[in-house]
Amino acid sequence: MDRRKTFLAGLALVLVLALVAGCGTQAPPQTTNPVVEGISALEMANLITAEWQASGKQFAMSYAAGRSANTCASCHDGYGFSVKNEINFATEWNPGGANAEMEMNPEHLTGIGCQACHAGAGLDYMNSGTVELPYATIDNAGKGAACMFCHSGRRNTAAEYEAYAAGGATRFSYPHYGPAALLTAKGMMEYPDMEYASTGAHANIADSCVYCHMPETEDGYVSHIFVMDVAFVDQTCGSCHSGIENYNLNGYQDNVKAMLTQLKEAVMEATGAVDITSASGQLVFKAADGTSMTTDQISTEAFVAGYNYYGIKSEGSYGVHNPKYTESLIKNSYKALTGEDM
Ligand code: HEC
Ligand code: HEC
Ligand code: HEC
Ligand code: HEC
Ligand code: HEC
Repeated sequence: MDRRKTFLAGLALVLVLALVAGCGTQAPPQTTNPVVEGISALEMANLITAEWQASGKQFAMSYAAGRSANTCASCHDGYGFSVKNEINFATEWNPGGANAEMEMNPEHLTGIGCQACHAGAGLDYMNSGTVELPYATIDNAGKGAACMFCHSGRRNTAAEYEAYAAGGATRFSYPHYGPAALLTAKGMMEYPDMEYASTGAHANIADSCVYCHMPETEDGYVSHIFVMDVAFVDQTCGSCHSGIENYNLNGYQDNVKAMLTQLKEAVMEATGAVDITSASGQLVFKAADGTSMTTDQISTEAFVAGYNYYGIKSEGSYGVHNPKYTESLIKNSYKALTGEDM
């Protein structure tokens, strides 16, 4: 394809994306190289769309857990996310609050599609690199600011700690899947008087989530599969960890898994629980008879350990997002609970 055609095809893609974006006042997505050498813009759009289509991002879940709309849609519905700063979920999308019996609202669920990230709130995050999370404002997230809003963990952990430690709590908070809480070393449950370390080199990677999760493919565009693929390990980690062959660097993830098991066993020993899971928006300490234990049976130390255990286990990187922070969370939780060093 000659250069003029390539340029026209590139222009067409930008126009298509602007249309998809709803032709608002937003600028089209900024990319370093909108037209990749070698493949046409249309081929690139097709490849990216096929990758996205095979990812979990195509699914909307704003009716998650039987709840229609309400604020769940700000992360579980692509359109809801892109317009979240302009609508009032409580009055416009879910009058009367969460209610399993009410009509589905929004009427048409939208997956986390192109427009979710390349228009509206998603685009604003990518351009500003800043995102306000329940526990901190992160201003060095780069393009990953969009990812962080949804994958934050969704709790003000300092406030949750205070409330539980003060006594009288009637429910257990739980981390709603927080890679950002680990990566930024700011969003897991800490003791105010203990020291927490952070692997700054990971917390400060340019474009954060996007740097590792959206590597450049052979065809020269950034991958939209989102889950880590070991085929890209050299690109995502190799510049700092030369010779790395997989994400389990020198058995590091295995080691974190073993530490998590030790922490969980300590919680079970201290409380008599037989498992730690989550259900209906709460952390669950399961008793031997299958019932859920209540807050008067779980000490603050056991709750903090359970929260961090569950949060690290469910975010999926087994320490890679922030190795030092992960280790201090596990070790400090264990120390406070058992009085011993792990
Ligand atoms: C701040 C963004 C955010 C909000 C708000 C949010 N979620 Fe989620 N939720 C997520 C993300 C991100 C995941 C996927 C995490 C993963 O797979 O790593 C998720 C996953 C889930 C899952 C799947 C869990 C599993 O075990 O597979 C359920 C169910 C869920 N959310 C329910 C809800 C409900 C109900 C609400 C509203 C009360 C809600 N979420 C609000 C971000 C959010
Ligand atoms: C609008 C909210 C939202 C945004 C923005 C978002 N995600 Fe997600 N992400 C989700 C939800 C919800 C899921 C769970 C989808 C499912 O499988 O049902 C998910 C799933 C994932 C998964 C797969 C998790 C698993 O357990 O299979 C990865 C990895 C991921 N996202 C990374 C990213 C990255 C990287 C970005 C930024 C480029 C990003 N996400 C932006 C909401 C979001
Ligand atoms: C330093 C590179 C790096 C950065 C930065 C990074 N991740 Fe990850 N992420 C990983 C690795 C490595 C894994 C584990 C993959 C494996 O073991 O197969 C992972 C796992 C995950 C998972 C679990 C996926 C699954 O398959 O279960 C999610 C979700 C995720 N990351 C989201 C994010 C989000 C959101 C951000 C930004 C807040 C982020 N990651 C930043 C490297 C990174
Ligand atoms: C979860 C967020 C997310 C979703 C969903 C998403 N993208 Fe992207 N996309 C990104 C990010 C982040 C980048 C990298 C931006 C950059 O580096 O400037 C990107 C880059 C691109 C690029 C530039 C590629 C390059 O390397 O030059 C194109 C084109 C693109 N996306 C198209 C799409 C299309 C088409 C869809 C829907 C099928 C889509 N995107 C869905 C986040 C997303
Ligand atoms: C920008 C450079 C950079 C990138 C990219 C990077 N790391 Fe790191 N990583 C570091 C630095 C620096 C340390 C801290 C080393 C230390 O404390 O001795 C570190 C520490 C680690 C540790 C803890 C090692 C230990 O023994 O304590 C693991 C595991 C790790 N990185 C895995 C990864 C993986 C997997 C990737 C790719 C998904 C990755 N890193 C990407 C710079 C980076």
